[in-house]
Amino acid sequence: MSELIKKALGEIKSKKNSVEKDYHRLDYHLMAPTGLINDPNGFSYYRGKYHLFYQWNPFECNHKTKFWGHFQSEDLVSWENKSPVLAPEDWYDKNGCYSGSAIEKDGQLILFYTGNVKDQYGNRETYQCLAVSDNGEEFQKLGPVITNQPNGYTRHFRDPKVWKDREIYYSVIGAQRDNLTGAAVLYSSNDIKNWSFLGEIKTDLENFGYMWECPDYFEINGEGVFIFSPQGIDAENDKYNNIYQSGYVLGKLDPKTVNLRHGEFSELDRGFDFYAPQTMIDKNGRRIMMAWAGLPEVDYPTENMGWLHCLTMPRELLIIDGKLVQKPVEEMKKIRKDFVEVQDLFSGKKSYPDIEGDSFEMICRLKSIDAGEVGINLRVGNNEKTVLKYDYSEKKVILDRGSSGEIFAEEYGTVRKCFLDSLEIVFHIFMDKSLIEVFINDGEEVFTARIFPDEKSSGIEFFSDGKTEISIKKWNI
Ligand code: FRU
Repeated sequence: MSELIKKALGEIKSKKNSVEKDYHRLDYHLMAPTGLINDPNGFSYYRGKYHLFYQWNPFECNHKTKFWGHFQSEDLVSWENKSPVLAPEDWYDKNGCYSGSAIEKDGQLILFYTGNVKDQYGNRETYQCLAVSDNGEEFQKLGPVITNQPNGYTRHFRDPKVWKDREIYYSVIGAQRDNLTGAAVLYSSNDIKNWSFLGEIKTDLENFGYMWECPDYFEINGEGVFIFSPQGIDAENDKYNNIYQSGYVLGKLDPKTVNLRHGEFSELDRGFDFYAPQTMIDKNGRRIMMAWAGLPEVDYPTENMGWLHCLTMPRELLIIDGKLVQKPVEEMKKIRKDFVEVQDLFSGKKSYPDIEGDSFEMICRLKSIDAGEVGINLRVGNNEKTVLKYDYSEKKVILDRGSSGEIFAEEYGTVRKCFLDSLEIVFHIFMDKSLIEVFINDGEEVFTARIFPDEKSSGIEFFSDGKTEISIKKWNI
């Protein structure tokens, strides 16, 4: 084990107790033991276990020293934090073992990641590197297999996502053109060590931000999905309100022409905290996505307690009626306890016995024929509430964290909205101390948000300005 990895493990030992004292630590979402977590990396299934690596700065809540941390799980629900596998300590990754992916080849688990290097003047070099393992726990670095970027691109060139189709390995890589617009490029290889540049992925999004990070391409039942995280998109009404975006287009990539004929770009999540998602295919053929429930340049109060950010739950991706739909993976049901159920017809404001809490799953179905607005106040306490509602006249789902607790990141606004046309609205809510994920109408839309309410704010109120049928199912977690 290298000295730098030993130092990171020492950091966990010395700070773990004080970090874990923070009420806002999560019960069932992944966080770093200390320091900062960002992108999920190398999401894979290898030797009977799910592996999820992550961008990790063990020492500070900033983006300076990036390791690859390592979580491992048998069921996507209970995870073990293992020793970190990559540390920024070689000439080709000395300023960060940046994001990348994993694939099994000849019984080994292979990591494909970006080595970030900066000289004393801040000039960047970028290396796409390999590391291999025979057991999924200790990795040996093999060094760079792609050095710098092809002509026509700047050194913002990173985040390889690899897959295999028939006998050929492909990788997409996020890029910035010399004219400072974002793009993604495609490489191929027969042996994963020697890579050929096939060209830039041709899309209709010629001028769509200044950099595309963390691209991912895969197919679900023969339909192609291209996910990426563009930076530099201006807000447009309810869309693109976060500092950076993450979204997808549906369309098939032709590796011969490198053409991607695709539909419209849609954001994957409508909340405040979602970025750099990565997908994998599991042993049952499901396409599963996890993302960073945070964003670059957004800080939260937990940094004063020595930790920052977390990941979303694993979500299964499906294509239904030409739309990418996200569902919490089935396995999440394993941690349900204390079931409560309510059915009612109500108007005004209402609470129900045992429907409260700060760590729970709740499915709430609301249907009204005359209400203008129906919704739920969550985490209600002294002058605090997080509001989730549906506005029938505007046909919009609205999440308001303006009174959720400690004030933070106000410069990005406190309300997120999205259009949805439906008489009945189903909010499938996962509340976890300082994180909320809401799947709406069976995963047609998802809102993810960090909130920092007081420990005592655990009330739940339902409201409607007309007559509303309500059914609630709730489990503590
Ligand atoms: C996305 C990102 C990636 C990069 C990594 C560094 O959040 O900026 O492009 O590889 O984070 O931590």
